[in-house]
Amino acid sequence: MLLNLAYPSVRPRRLRANKLIRDAVAETSLSPDDLIMPIFVKEGSSIEHIESMPGYFRWPVGSELVKHVEEALNLGVNKFILFGVLPDDIKDPEGRAGYDPEGVVPKALRLLKETFGDRVLLFADVCLCEYTDHGHCGIVVYDKKGWKIDNDKTISIYAKEAVTYAEAGADFVAPSGMMDGQVRAIRQTLDSAGYTDVGIMAYSAKYASAFYGPFRTAAASAPKFGDRRTYQMDPRNAKEAVKEVMLDLAEGADIVMVKPALAYLDVIRLVKETFPWAPVAAYSVSGEYSMIKAAARAGYLDERLIALETLYAIRRAGADLILTYYARDVALWLKEGTPF
Ligand code: PBG
Repeated sequence: MLLNLAYPSVRPRRLRANKLIRDAVAETSLSPDDLIMPIFVKEGSSIEHIESMPGYFRWPVGSELVKHVEEALNLGVNKFILFGVLPDDIKDPEGRAGYDPEGVVPKALRLLKETFGDRVLLFADVCLCEYTDHGHCGIVVYDKKGWKIDNDKTISIYAKEAVTYAEAGADFVAPSGMMDGQVRAIRQTLDSAGYTDVGIMAYSAKYASAFYGPFRTAAASAPKFGDRRTYQMDPRNAKEAVKEVMLDLAEGADIVMVKPALAYLDVIRLVKETFPWAPVAAYSVSGEYSMIKAAARAGYLDERLIALETLYAIRRAGADLILTYYARDVALWLKEGTPF
């Protein structure tokens, strides 16, 4: 038996001889169904190009946004996560604009649900950094030692935000602030408001990562002082991700997320193997997108091949869903088949 498992009886190259056999034995699949496309929505009427994310735009809530979503839908991308981008003068220390029913995110949710109904699945990011004037993901309080984030006050604001988005038509809310107890607070508040069917995709293992740089420019959400290391995870830790995911599942998360993706494939794998029954999402973040864009523009590498190889790697590691700025391109590229 063992002898038969060796050369010359076994020639692994037979299974690589041509594309048909390679496709037949491929272990990993990637389809538009696996993808969630981020959309930045803004006040005003002009579409803005995001310089730090070439080929990506901020969309005012209106007919152009509808067209943008329609185009993605026609390619098979049907899941979208919305981020609000606000001018500085609407922001305040408590991020009140985040739960204003007339804010950009609720407006966009209503428009897209009215237009597309059940043809789209809408996720809404729940955080404060897009809405606070200081740019932190929570309420900042000061004491003798300086500033800190008031965890418990923050999660009650997240809960208000979540209800506002549920009311506006979100299918899932996605708390990304890494406060303790945020999933529980949101679940309880949604339930008592009658939104038991609205799901939670929790950013469970979200690292304090420099890969978010281009997003913070895109969403004008960089902290004005300090950093996010007292709430986002330390990049040196993997086992701690199991704890974070376990807590979020216990608090009622329906989908858990690891973020970023490419530099954290081991974490994705660990989470999937520890909780095989839990849907795992991975966020291929702005820095991952912009790195490929920049290198491709410089002529150093092939954008399509690198983007696809990366996304297959994230799926191979164990992600069921991938949030990616390449969602549309990938859907288009996959129409021509896999490149392998
Ligand atoms: C926080 C949030 C961030 C991202 C998604 N939600 C930024 C942060 O934590 O600073 C980053 C996404 C990306 O880089 O693509 N609301």
